[in-house]
Amino acid sequence: MSHSKTYDNEPLTAWVNGRFVPLPEATVHIEDRGFQFADGVYEVIACVNGHFLDLQAHLERLERSCAAIRLDMPMSRSEMQQLVEEIYARNPFRRAMIYIQITRGAGPRAHYPATGMQPTVVLTSRALPQPSSERLAVGYTAITRPDIRWKHCEIKSIALLASIMGKQEAHDAGVDETFWLDDEGHVLEGCSTNAFAVIDGKLVTHPLDHQVLGGITRDLVLRTARNHQITVEERPWRLHEAGLTECMLSSTTNAVMPVCRIDGQPIGDGKPGRIALQLRQMVIAALEADA
Ligand SMILES: Cc1ncc(COP(=O)(O)O)c(C=O)c1O
Repeated sequence: MSHSKTYDNEPLTAWVNGRFVPLPEATVHIEDRGFQFADGVYEVIACVNGHFLDLQAHLERLERSCAAIRLDMPMSRSEMQQLVEEIYARNPFRRAMIYIQITRGAGPRAHYPATGMQPTVVLTSRALPQPSSERLAVGYTAITRPDIRWKHCEIKSIALLASIMGKQEAHDAGVDETFWLDDEGHVLEGCSTNAFAVIDGKLVTHPLDHQVLGGITRDLVLRTARNHQITVEERPWRLHEAGLTECMLSSTTNAVMPVCRIDGQPIGDGKPGRIALQLRQMVIAALEADA
């Protein structure tokens, strides 16, 4: 199983409910509510040269997601931070992504959760994929679809079926991402990314509400833009607005990537935009400088 090997050909090590185990042996119970109901939440944290990017913001979001589904965090923030450090130390990729998943635990299958259940906690650390320079030169592509997700997209839930269907459609169309549209045609976000446009020279992205996940990278992009005198507007936006010259997406695993064609139409001149590339460069420089 090539996906379970590190660069050393050693199996990856996972954390499952209090134990470090080789990934091929890392299992949870069939009555786990994550498996039965997608009753859980997760986080993905990037790590460059041993430095975790915006770790506190990720742990805060994890706590908010748990609180939103009334799941008591099974450990303190500092204990979770220590676990993140330990899982990374056992899978120390130069560029890594740490995955944390918490479910409500295992119990007899009933929608209403029993009291006193022990939450399931799983962590892994894997290599963080990097886009090739060829890929960066042409940028990403996307399609748009009506948003078929639920009405609590601000929760980082493991219930990702709609996003999987969106990714399947993107794959079938030969593009990288599906951007979800609200009923009025506003671009909300991607299946696993936040979406931005440059309109009249301003960086525009949908405001934080129940229709989008508050991406940690989105925050970093907006902070970076403001620090470099790029005006930011958090407002609903459409693809066909006059003055729209660029699109881009952001996520922990992609940093910032220009999106150059959407629904088969070129955005601007169809090449990675100046502001997208500038933001990508500045965000990556900030991450590496920090590391
Ligand atoms: C729906 C959605 N929006 C946005 C993001 C980007 O969030 P972050 O920058 O915290 O990785 C993700 C990441 O998985 C996501 O699933």
